[in-house]
Amino acid sequence: MSLSDCRFIQMPKVSDVRGNLTYIESNNQIPFDIRRVYYIYDVPGGSERGSHAHRSLHQFVVAMSGSFDVVLHDGETEKRFHLNRSYSGLYVCPMMWRTLDNFSSGSVCMVLASEFYAESDYIRDWDKFVDLAN
Ligand code: TYD
Repeated sequence: MSLSDCRFIQMPKVSDVRGNLTYIESNNQIPFDIRRVYYIYDVPGGSERGSHAHRSLHQFVVAMSGSFDVVLHDGETEKRFHLNRSYSGLYVCPMMWRTLDNFSSGSVCMVLASEFYAESDYIRDWDKFVDLAN
């Protein structure tokens, strides 16, 4: 998989006078089975999250409220994505170094993940990541 596989995916939005409803189903709107959901919130201004890669984890990142950036790096090329819609999310394939920054105040970042939490899936060292990615 490559950086070009990492893309915004628009989810269905059911709108009526009562407001909007968006849904996400495993292997339907997103290309993997969802095993875990986590979210990041109350991020102090100027903070960065992430700065690691995953060996085999697929993720789908949604700005449920507010906005932030996801910067993806495949070891050669970097791409910055601005997330600010709760009906559009970013699919992040395995072996992408990711950093999240530029959080607006009150933003909430929800992540759907293909596996349970496993520290052994993380690559937290940049040089090791570049070695493995090439
Ligand atoms: P980490 O993934 O490093 O956070 P971020 O990438 O946002 O900076 O996780 C931070 C801590 O939270 C780390 O000690 C592991 C723990 N954690 C879990 O226990 N379960 C999870 O699902 C996640 C994502 C993290």
